[in-house]
Amino acid sequence: STGLALSAKAAGKLYFGSALDNPGLTDEPYLAILSDKNQFTQLTPANGMKWESTEPSRGVYTWTQGDAVLAVAKKNGQLLRGHTCAWHSQLPSWVTAGNFDNATLTSIMVDHCKTVVGHYKGQIYSWDVVNEAFNEDGTFRETVFYNTIGPSYISKVLHAAREADHHAKLYINDYNIDGTGAKSTGMVNLIKSLKAERAPIDGVGIQGHLIVGQVPTTIQANIEQFAALGVEVAITELDIRMELPVTPEKLAQQKEDYKNVIKACANVPACVGVTIWDYTDKYSWVPSVFDGEGAPLPWDENLVKKPAYDGIVEGF
Ligand code: XIL
Repeated sequence: STGLALSAKAAGKLYFGSALDNPGLTDEPYLAILSDKNQFTQLTPANGMKWESTEPSRGVYTWTQGDAVLAVAKKNGQLLRGHTCAWHSQLPSWVTAGNFDNATLTSIMVDHCKTVVGHYKGQIYSWDVVNEAFNEDGTFRETVFYNTIGPSYISKVLHAAREADHHAKLYINDYNIDGTGAKSTGMVNLIKSLKAERAPIDGVGIQGHLIVGQVPTTIQANIEQFAALGVEVAITELDIRMELPVTPEKLAQQKEDYKNVIKACANVPACVGVTIWDYTDKYSWVPSVFDGEGAPLPWDENLVKKPAYDGIVEGF
């Protein structure tokens, strides 16, 4: 038999995975492919474990969405990636509008992360503890956490996650850190300083939201520079979007682009796995966010494999 997870495994990778959002849970044909372990050996909840989903009002936790994704992973014997503790987006308004002082927001953030990571203790391979902490120039993004707590929010939330689950691999995750450049250098410097202060950091997550025909040529070099810091690396949210409409030429370029991204991970032992941000164009987040763009995934809207699928297989 063949499949993306089988190809990843043959290349020495721990998993090949997909995001899963809750609307997909009632789509039987969709779930059948997602549950095929020849294809997918890891899942990430696309929304279900975010702050607005898990603690919509202060101290009131709702686990329904995240637990539903966990149940699928458990049933199938797939690894699970937790996503995410400290992120500026999809925060409930009680956090963003709260105007808390440093001590109060620190305890809110630490409690949130301890509670969420603790709820899933023992069931999670890796957590995106911090998401999207950087600006494009490599400086820190001025989120509510950074502005109120300062850069130490990052080590504080990492310690909280470690305390809640000693075995989960703790990651910092971001986009536009696929190739080398100012933002990736910012990440390198952060990991160095976290290591210097002995903060618990295990991995760098490269989201991999890319554009057909514009995939950086320095992905392998960049993965290598992260790996040299003594952390593992994962590609966590891969999708390669195109301007619509879809054409055979764009699909062929997309195949090459997927192949090159996968090859970069395959060539570096510290790159443990790749997750695509859902597997079918039917459930991609791209059309709702990037005007006129879409079709970024290896299966089309009718759950039919695209050339990109073969690109992934060839890349491993
Ligand atoms: C996206 C989800 O896929 C959408 O359903 C949601 O509306 C917005 O967030 N980077 C991340 C992910 O880390 O959490 C985002 O997921 C995509 C960009």
